[in-house]
Amino acid sequence: MDHNFWHQRWQQDKIGFHLEEANPLLVKYGPGVGLSPDDEVFVPLCGKSLDMIWLREQGFSVVGIEVSDLALKSFFESNTIPCRNLQAGEFNIYQANGYMLYSGDFFALNADVIQSCKLVYDRASLVAFPEEMRKQYVHHLLSIIPAEASIFLITLQYSQEQMQGPPFSVPKSEIESLFGDSYNLEILSEKDVLADHDHFRQQGLTSLLETAILLTPTS
Ligand SMILES: C[S@@+](CC[C@H](N)C(=O)[O-])C[C@H]1O[C@@H](n2cnc3c(N)ncnc32)[C@H](O)[C@@H]1O
Repeated sequence: MDHNFWHQRWQQDKIGFHLEEANPLLVKYGPGVGLSPDDEVFVPLCGKSLDMIWLREQGFSVVGIEVSDLALKSFFESNTIPCRNLQAGEFNIYQANGYMLYSGDFFALNADVIQSCKLVYDRASLVAFPEEMRKQYVHHLLSIIPAEASIFLITLQYSQEQMQGPPFSVPKSEIESLFGDSYNLEILSEKDVLADHDHFRQQGLTSLLETAILLTPTS
């Protein structure tokens, strides 16, 4: 799961994770997560997700981080959003009205760029990493987001022996152990979505549970 893996996926257009519409779980549950207009949402490993367009349409500002510059370029080009480029340290930043998208490594991102963030929106980000890296991902995430920010998480669960990730299976017990010390977990939705993912069934999956969880800080 090194950077080259993802650069290749983007270069070869092997981006089956990308949705051509805003994620229905975000559209359904996003309005109920307690954000106010102008609040900032952090989207780690954002790809060129149209969820960012939806978030912006609700009046939120969006800060994203994505290792593929190609993905970010494509996001602005395909949505015809004029943007300008800034350089900050090792990051190339795409800035547009309400968007600050950082091109670079999530693990190099500092807390100061998301100090106003009220919500983290993680769809297909935690599940992009194998188990050991998931620990590092969550450790870094929790070290850079404000303590009062909530996290909207969409994860997948299946029998890991049936398929190699990504996406990787993230059992609910793991989410509890990763976040449970500092966050309350509220399951918003849980559904077997295998019928919508024929390519996963062809790879041998017999079930694919998609779960949307709202994590709110306990203190
Ligand atoms: C499975 S995709 C999900 C993208 C997006 N969240 C979505 O829903 O379409 C995972 C993304 O993480 C990016 N990525 C992987 N490792 C990264 C890292 N260390 N820093 C920043 N982005 C990374 C990949 O390039 C890829 O676009």
